[in-house]
Amino acid sequence: MKYTKLGNSGTVVSALALGTWHLPGSGKYNENKVENVDGEEFNRIFKKCYDLGINFYDTSNIYHGRVEENEKHIPETGNSEKILGRAINGIERETLVIATKVRGPVGNFPNSEGLSRKHIMWQIKESLRRLNIDYVDLYQVHWPDKNTPIIETLRTLTHLVDIDLVRYIGESNHDIIDIEEFINDSKVYNLDEIITLQEPYNILQRNIENDKLKIAKKYKLGILAYVPLAQGLLSGKYLESGRGRSEYVPELLKLNIKHKNKILKLLEFSKERGITGTQLALAWLLKKSEMEEIPIIPLLGITKLSYVEENLEALNINLNMEDMKYIDEISFK
Ligand SMILES: NC(=O)c1ccc[n+]([C@@H]2O[C@H](COP(=O)([O-])OP(=O)(O)OC[C@H]3O[C@@H](n4cnc5c(N)ncnc54)[C@H](OP(=O)(O)O)[C@@H]3O)[C@@H](O)[C@H]2O)c1
Repeated sequence: MKYTKLGNSGTVVSALALGTWHLPGSGKYNENKVENVDGEEFNRIFKKCYDLGINFYDTSNIYHGRVEENEKHIPETGNSEKILGRAINGIERETLVIATKVRGPVGNFPNSEGLSRKHIMWQIKESLRRLNIDYVDLYQVHWPDKNTPIIETLRTLTHLVDIDLVRYIGESNHDIIDIEEFINDSKVYNLDEIITLQEPYNILQRNIENDKLKIAKKYKLGILAYVPLAQGLLSGKYLESGRGRSEYVPELLKLNIKHKNKILKLLEFSKERGITGTQLALAWLLKKSEMEEIPIIPLLGITKLSYVEENLEALNINLNMEDMKYIDEISFK
C-alpha cells in the first residue's frame, strides 16, 4: 500500500480509500423494494482491503448501500454505517481512519435534515452508535444547507472536536463561495478548519479543476475524489451490458451513450498498456495528486471481491506526462 496525508493534517491514510455508497447486492429485495446488501460479501471485501493496507473508509449517515442517494428511503437510512460498523468489529480502532457525513434527510419531520446545531448534535451520536465507535476521524458536511448559517455549522463541528467525538472536519459538494466562507470563518473566529474537500473527480468529470482544486492547493486541503470511475462508466462494463449499477441507476446508460467515444478511446489506450480501464482511471487520479502536490484520494466503490486486487493494482501504474497529455486530449474533446 502507498500512504498519504489526510489533507494538511498529520494523520496518515492509504492512497486509496474504500467508500460505502453502493455495497454488494444480495439479489433479494425488502418490503420497500430496495435490494438488500450482501453483508458477507462486504465483510470479505473489507477484510481484503484492510489486509492489503487500506486504512481509510468513507460512509455517510444516509447511505443505505444499494439505491440511488437522491431517492428517499428513510427506513434504510444509515444501513451502510451499520454494515461498516459490523465489518470493523474486533479490529483495533487506532488502525482505522473513518469518515462519515451529515446533512441528508433521516426522517420526514422538521429538523430531520440539515446542518443546524440541533441536527448535527443528534446525528453524530446516531453515526457513532451505528458504526459502534466512540469517535469519527473525519466528519464531513455532505452538501449545503442554505437554511443554516455556515458559522453555526462551523461552531458545532468545532464543538464536536473539542468534546472528542470528531478528530477532523471536511466539506463535500459546497460552492466555492461557501468553502471560502468556511475557511475565512475558521480564521476570523479561531474555529476548527476543514481539511478535505470531497468532490466528484474523474477523467470525465473535471469541473473541480476550474476552482476547487485551486483552493485546495492554496490551503493544502486534501481532495477525496468520489465517483473515480464515473460510477463504473470508465471500467467500460456498461458498453457491453446494462448489468450492475446501471440496472438500478438508469441515468448511467444515458451517460454511457453520451461519453461512448471517449470511453472507447480510453479503453483502447489502456489495452495498449496492458491495463484495464478501471486501473487507468485510478492511476490518472493518483498521478494528478503527484502533479498538483496535494493528496487526491480516490474513494473506491467496490461491489465485488474480484474488483479489489484489480483496483489496487493502480498503485503500481505510473502514467508519464505524455500519457497525461493524451488523456487530456481525450477528456477535453
Ligand atoms: N460526497 C458525495 O456526495 C458522494 C457521492 C457519491 C459517492 N461518494 C463516495 O464515493 C465512493 C465511490 O463512489 P462510486 O461507488 O460511485 O465510485 P466509482 O468507482 O465511480 O463506481 C463504482 C462502480 O464501478 C464499478 N466497478 C468498480 N470496480 C470495478 C472493476 N474493477 N471492474 C468493473 N467495474 C468496477 C462497480 O459497478 P457495479 O456495481 O455495476 O459492478 C462499482 O459499483 C462512494 O462509496 C462514497 O463513499 C460520495
